Amino acid sequence: MKSCLITSILCALMLCGACEQAPVADIHYGAEPLKFKSVKEWEKQHRPAIMAFFENEVYGKMPEKNIPIKAEVLEEGSAFGGKAIRRQVALKVEGSDIPMIVLMYIPSNAKGPSPAFLCMNFKGNHNVNPDPEIIISPNAPDTKNGPEGITRGVASSRWPIEMIIDSGYAVVTVNRDNVDPDSDDGFKNSYHSLFYKEGQSYPEPDEWGTIGMWAWSLSRVMDYMEDDKSIDHKHVAVVGHSRLGKTSLWAGVTDPRFAIVISNNSGCGGAALSIRKHGETVAKINKSFPHWFCDNYNKYNDNEEALKIDQQGLIALIAPRPVYVASASLDDWADPEGEFLSAVNASPVYELYGLKGLTGATMPGINSPLQDGHVAYHLREGKHDITSYDWEQYIKFANRHFGR
Ligand code: GCU
Repeated sequence: MKSCLITSILCALMLCGACEQAPVADIHYGAEPLKFKSVKEWEKQHRPAIMAFFENEVYGKMPEKNIPIKAEVLEEGSAFGGKAIRRQVALKVEGSDIPMIVLMYIPSNAKGPSPAFLCMNFKGNHNVNPDPEIIISPNAPDTKNGPEGITRGVASSRWPIEMIIDSGYAVVTVNRDNVDPDSDDGFKNSYHSLFYKEGQSYPEPDEWGTIGMWAWSLSRVMDYMEDDKSIDHKHVAVVGHSRLGKTSLWAGVTDPRFAIVISNNSGCGGAALSIRKHGETVAKINKSFPHWFCDNYNKYNDNEEALKIDQQGLIALIAPRPVYVASASLDDWADPEGEFLSAVNASPVYELYGLKGLTGATMPGINSPLQDGHVAYHLREGKHDITSYDWEQYIKFANRHFGR
């Protein structure tokens, strides 16, 4: 009895902060609201443990090695009737024949450097707008069909570029397949192999998959933007839709230079809580897209209870930077309620910093954004998509946080 009491006191002392490195690795946070006592406790103990979990078990670690990348401006011109400057830049990755082609539209009447939305695209830079000057993205899905198959501008409903420019923001994009083709091809056509150790031919179970590589490439675009005088690189919001929303969250977590992080309909493996098993599940996503996450993530197939932390932890890792989670009313596959609950359950971490989160909020009605704090959420009417309505909310949110 006596020794039991002594052990309990010792354990309590260790956990109460008497010992800075409390043994949090074994704590099971589950999907609960992340309530801690202080910013210090969060930053010193829980944040590193949660980060390590996402790195080792979900998205895979990014390599420590740096590969030289040279930027070359390939083209520059005027667009949208003179409202914007179009700039296209090749980021040439040493050791690869395929450069990342970055497309930028920058407000031409800006008095100084412009804040920007960086958003990866699905179908090719040339699909975000019919502008004939846009360079065809290497490896974009429609390039497989030869020159006749190129579908310029087909995704333009997702890209209200003129509205964004009129609001004073630059739009910067790169294509996902340019960086790492979205298929389970053993990472043969991506930059992964440039980072392999001698004799390695596939990522280790705790090393990055495709989402990791996409997020890495967004950081490389950020590196370029830091040198581009027309971009206010301290005010860049990273945005992504769906699988690219999972990517924008991971990019925002791994790279603190992104001042705002926006997840649009990111669903399973993005903002949605996995434990709910509503719509897409961990097993389903790993089966359909085995290349997106690290191999360790398969441990949680039909075993969500074993996740030490759910996706609310991912959102909390962005704190204290503003984060916006958005859902669509007909997007059951992405589990709107699970996305909302993640934002709510991450909120106590924001509140530790004295910032407004969503603790106590109830799921808002359709088209009734909750966006007056540092954690924002809306449920747009309609299907899985990113629309002008979504962008209008992101612009308002960025205006507020960027003091515009
Ligand atoms: C599929 C996939 C989702 C993903 C979506 C998308 O529906 O199951 O996880 O978010 O594609 O990227 O559009």
